[in-house]
Amino acid sequence: MNVYDGQRIATMLNKHGFEQTDILTDADIIILNTCAVREKATNKVFSALGRIRQAKKPSALFGIVGCVARETGGTAFKRIPDLNFVLGPQSYHKLPEILKNPDTKLLNIDLTGLEKFDELPQMEKSPAVAYIPIQEGCNHCCTYCIVPYTRGRELSRPFEDIIKDTIHAANTGALEICFLGQNVNGYKYTDETTGKIYRLSDLIKETAKLESIKRIRFTSSYPTEMTDDLIDIFKTEPKLLPFLNMPIQSGSQNVLTKMNRPYSLDLYIDIVDKLKSARPDIQISSDFIVGFPGETDQDFEQTMEIARKIKYINSYSFKYSPRPHTAAALMKDQIPEAIKAARLAKLDSYLNELQRAFNESCVGKTMECLCEGPDKTGNHIVYRTPYMQQCIVDAPKDMPVKQLVKIRITDANKASLRGEVIN
Ligand code: 5AD
Ligand code: SF4
Repeated sequence: MNVYDGQRIATMLNKHGFEQTDILTDADIIILNTCAVREKATNKVFSALGRIRQAKKPSALFGIVGCVARETGGTAFKRIPDLNFVLGPQSYHKLPEILKNPDTKLLNIDLTGLEKFDELPQMEKSPAVAYIPIQEGCNHCCTYCIVPYTRGRELSRPFEDIIKDTIHAANTGALEICFLGQNVNGYKYTDETTGKIYRLSDLIKETAKLESIKRIRFTSSYPTEMTDDLIDIFKTEPKLLPFLNMPIQSGSQNVLTKMNRPYSLDLYIDIVDKLKSARPDIQISSDFIVGFPGETDQDFEQTMEIARKIKYINSYSFKYSPRPHTAAALMKDQIPEAIKAARLAKLDSYLNELQRAFNESCVGKTMECLCEGPDKTGNHIVYRTPYMQQCIVDAPKDMPVKQLVKIRITDANKASLRGEVIN
């Protein structure tokens, strides 16, 4: 979501005559686009702001947008008095107001719903992967999560608006569409005139009709929103990639209950089985939280157990971090840092092992991959496989780089694949 927000902010500022620069001391405006999901991220934002104010041109405006802005609100001006703006994730389209009145302080952390989507200009040229948000906010209220506070209640964008954005992306260079939402598979939009209900499966079907779009994916999915229409579409729509991020968070039924994620492990496993019957080559990725309040050694072992059972790829694990405005932060049995760290190390190391095993199983296979661009040396081109693995190939000599190619995988390690283009 932050990549999308960043692209939209850049497009908006281009229209006001700004260009992007990587050189901090050249910038006339510096915007930190922030995530508040974990405490570390919030701390990092404030130390970065401290560094920026020392290094920037004295006349340059600087501020924060996104979830940390919403989390801290006006107190950010107390911590960094010369900060110019603080704009929440649903009000960053108000940024041009600071350009009109650079001597004021701009604070807006309102939850304005879908307003920003109507106000922001379209990108003139789409990147090869177009991120298209289909909803804002989340109604799930997991007890550890700050998102319902920072991004508000869940709202699904109108079906026609999303399709309009998708067609625009397709006509301006996109080859892959990635639908985004905190609870993306909960997408539900009712057309008031016809009464017709649109789901994510309808968006996928409509998008697949676009000739220039070759790959479709979506993230992030909530397990119990994985309805049969969506599972079926993995069977019928070849443009939908065989890769799904469906976080389980914990393998312990007790912990899931305390997290307010009221699905049974059996149900989760059942959904994975159904997905595998629909699409035998599908792979699943997950997010995990270790050290949630009250998590016992046995609970943690159950998390290891589910990771062994599902054989996740491309997964992320985090130490539980207490966040303001969340119920879990007030729970009594918080876990000591050293235990959290030890559990994270164990889980991470196993997830890495799973990733290596999957990467190695790809050697000898041919996969259609999408170009991400050259690596730092310029001698290699980085591609993404259908499973979002990085695949590195030698840069072609005296030939243009093709965007979508078939690659034979020749080598693999934990982090990436090597391969050769075969068409
Ligand atoms: N502490 C640790 N991890 C968290 N996540 C969300 N909230 C927290 C928290 N308080 C993780 C979840 C989620 C991912 C985006 O961030 O695993 O899926
Ligand atoms: Fe947060 Fe995801 Fe739970 Fe929503 S479903 S509250 S975004 S962790």
